[in-house]
Amino acid sequence: MTTLVTGGFGCIGAWVIKRLLAAGERPVVYDLSDDPWRMRMIVGPERLGDLVVVRGDIADRDAVVRVVGDHGITRIIHLAAWQVPLCRQDPSKGALVNVVGTANVFEAAKAHRVGRVTYFSSAAVFGPPHLYGPGPISDDAPPKPATHYGVFKVANEETARVYWEEYRIASMGFRPLSVYGPGRDFGLTADPTLALKAAVLGRSFEIRWGGATDLIYADDVAQACLAAADSTLDGARVYNLHGESARIADVVRMIEEAWPEARGRLSHVEQPIPFPAELADTGYQRDLGPRPRTGLRDGIRKTLDEFSALARAGRLDARELEPAT
Ligand SMILES: NC(=O)c1ccc[n+]([C@@H]2O[C@H](COP(=O)([O-])OP(=O)(O)OC[C@H]3O[C@@H](n4cnc5c(N)ncnc54)[C@H](O)[C@@H]3O)[C@@H](O)[C@H]2O)c1
Repeated sequence: MTTLVTGGFGCIGAWVIKRLLAAGERPVVYDLSDDPWRMRMIVGPERLGDLVVVRGDIADRDAVVRVVGDHGITRIIHLAAWQVPLCRQDPSKGALVNVVGTANVFEAAKAHRVGRVTYFSSAAVFGPPHLYGPGPISDDAPPKPATHYGVFKVANEETARVYWEEYRIASMGFRPLSVYGPGRDFGLTADPTLALKAAVLGRSFEIRWGGATDLIYADDVAQACLAAADSTLDGARVYNLHGESARIADVVRMIEEAWPEARGRLSHVEQPIPFPAELADTGYQRDLGPRPRTGLRDGIRKTLDEFSALARAGRLDARELEPAT
């Protein structure tokens, strides 16, 4: 079994790789970046040599097809993507990376008879809560994306469906909302993790949005991803993921309770983001569960412990908190 992880140097990638290495695999990472800084923090610098790294662009179809063939890939976990801010800045390039990139992954699977693709959609396929009825958003709620990023994710889900219908390539896609934990540093919903890192470093931080969101611990997302990659269920399935729904004001309070030195240093802006406040993960729990969820208090504690251990070891990389130069 050889697993290709596209975008493996990102946040979710680092947690997926950690689990693959723990299972004794030697995964192949395909990423545009050549700096595995999140991996150094989450997996440890000593394990970097256990990976095969291929630097390349997900928008380069020939290169993606080649990496699958050259390395005898038997399963694909596709994570390479641009997040909301970059897609907003440059929607054309965002479509190239997110939509064409995903089609390239399925083309590579088709060319080399890889029968299963695990990929990430997003809760951004749904719009803000007022577009839906009360309660958590179900797996089959209608997509009403409020961002280009969300539109691209809807396209990817449909791409996956057609590859199943026409070529019998099975797939599972996931829709998390606010992933948090070590390694989360970029994107609209990264701010709760940035606040946790700022707390450990004794700095001030303002979360740039408010309202309620569904927060899921990064390692829970990686576990879902590996359960999907191991699954033998057919079809093109897409699952909401759910962690714990909370108001950002309460998240700030929980961080201050867990890390009292942060009192008075953290704040937020009470401006909602155009995504749901809570998701129901019924399909995921039915097909790949039951899976326990890390509660928010636990996840906050784990993240603070991990960041402070890294800080003590001189390995806490906080580049995302530095002012842009
Ligand atoms: N983090 C979240 O809260 C969240 C929520 C919903 C969905 N998702 C989705 O999960 C997936 C993984 O997210 P993440 O948080 O790990 O993202 P991330 O931004 O931390 O990592 C993305 C990785 O993709 C790589 N990449 C970017 N453009 C590339 C290109 N053109 N070619 C090759 N590699 C490229 C980057 O170098 C990076 O290592 C993405 O599809 C994302 O949209 C994430």
